[in-house]
Amino acid sequence: MIVIGGGPGGYAAALYGAGIGLDIGLVERGAIGGTCLNVGCIPAKELLETAHVFRTVRDAAQFGVNSSPPQVDWSVTMTRKQAIIDQLVGGLTSLLKNRKVTLYDGSGSLGADHQVRVQGGESGDVTLTAPAIILATGSLPRTIPGFELDGVFVATSDEVLSLEKLPATAAVIGGGAIGCEFASMMGDLGVDVTVLEALPQILVGCDADAAKVVERSFKKRGITVRTGVMVQGHTPDASGRFTSVAFGDGESIDVEKVVVSVGRRPFADLLGLDGTGARVDERGFVEIDERGRTGEPGVWAVGDLVNTPQLAHVAFAEGMLAIRDILGEDPTPLDHDGTPWCIYCNPEVAFAGHTEESAKAAGFDVVTSSHRFIGNGRAKIVGDTDGIVKVIAERRADGTGGRILGVHMVGPWVTEQLGQGYLAVNWQATVDEVAAFIQPHPTMSELFGETVLSLTGRSLHG
Ligand code: NAI
Repeated sequence: MIVIGGGPGGYAAALYGAGIGLDIGLVERGAIGGTCLNVGCIPAKELLETAHVFRTVRDAAQFGVNSSPPQVDWSVTMTRKQAIIDQLVGGLTSLLKNRKVTLYDGSGSLGADHQVRVQGGESGDVTLTAPAIILATGSLPRTIPGFELDGVFVATSDEVLSLEKLPATAAVIGGGAIGCEFASMMGDLGVDVTVLEALPQILVGCDADAAKVVERSFKKRGITVRTGVMVQGHTPDASGRFTSVAFGDGESIDVEKVVVSVGRRPFADLLGLDGTGARVDERGFVEIDERGRTGEPGVWAVGDLVNTPQLAHVAFAEGMLAIRDILGEDPTPLDHDGTPWCIYCNPEVAFAGHTEESAKAAGFDVVTSSHRFIGNGRAKIVGDTDGIVKVIAERRADGTGGRILGVHMVGPWVTEQLGQGYLAVNWQATVDEVAAFIQPHPTMSELFGETVLSLTGRSLHG
């Protein structure tokens, strides 16, 4: 088998397949680990953790732990971030080698008859062929007209993760997952941040109540959030120190950095595909069926290259699904409606399943319950009480909850608490079934149990 692309989709397919005994060649033009390890999930979360440590030290006096006001030594921050990336990339490379995956350095493109041409890297110009091929070339940050990358003012996630120093002021265009994570990180580290979002709410796709908690928290911490505004362009001032970003109805803001986080586009540009039945749609995604098969027999596509949620863990799952299909195991397709989502801004957001709005739109008669972390012992101990857990269930005739349709969390460490909510939604559990389980005390995850319990019509604290 040949895998083109060594990010989460490609390396998961390679590791999983090689573990089962397939003979695999993996073609990668950049660093193994792809966007996730090198310029995505891992460095972004590492910088958010720096912001968390900064807040902890800044607010330590409330615990009777006195220290001088914290200062950020950004070069140390960057060194630590890079060390974590290097360790993970090194570990992954060893894992692949231990499983006898052959690594090819270069760009891979697919032609007729399963011919994969590798060029432009240390492996030289070689042509490979195999009965099964997985395309996993990922995505790139999208840019918008008027905000072309200039190496000075305009940055995408690729550049922000390697800034030489933090700016004093920044405009973040797009209030999605990336925009909110960067706004949160920079805001907590003292950057004066303004988020400019075209739609009426930030974090579209999240339950509106959860998005509101994030927006309120941002505002409380001095991060300006402007929703429903379009950006027009930017004009650097004569000194070259600022640029003026024009937005909305004649408004503008002067900033040292503009972060463009308006989504990512699939990267099929170098894949070729001439003479194959694989098709790229008008938005650039490689078209697949529910098992990841492209239009070319024996060729699959996974990860950000296909039109499914652009998440590393979805890519892992798609990589493994493709392998199972290659092995003829007739695997069950993934249910993307139940995908777990985790956004690591402060406060964190995590959810799986329907929002209240989408459940109603899908025709469900719903009942919901929300509980706030302010009443949770562990959250109080930690000193981080902003947030809620909201559970959406099918309404039974007596008004209590039946099947759990969605679990939405915003608050401290919720990305680590989603697990049981994710299982409840995807196992199609009912409120009664989940309420019967014991929640460990004192934990923040008790709040999920409490919220589900209250949907039985009875409750403890809430
Ligand atoms: P996104 O699609 O999540 O959000 C982009 C936002 O930009 C949207 O709210 C959109 O309305 C807004 N926008 C688009 N054009 C605009 C304009 N001209 N002016 C103002 N606003 C505009 O994309 P994002 O945040 O760049 O993330 C890309 C992908 O990476 C997403 O699919 C996301 O799922 C994934 N990701 C996930 C993370 C996580 O789960 N923790 C973290 C980072 C990325």
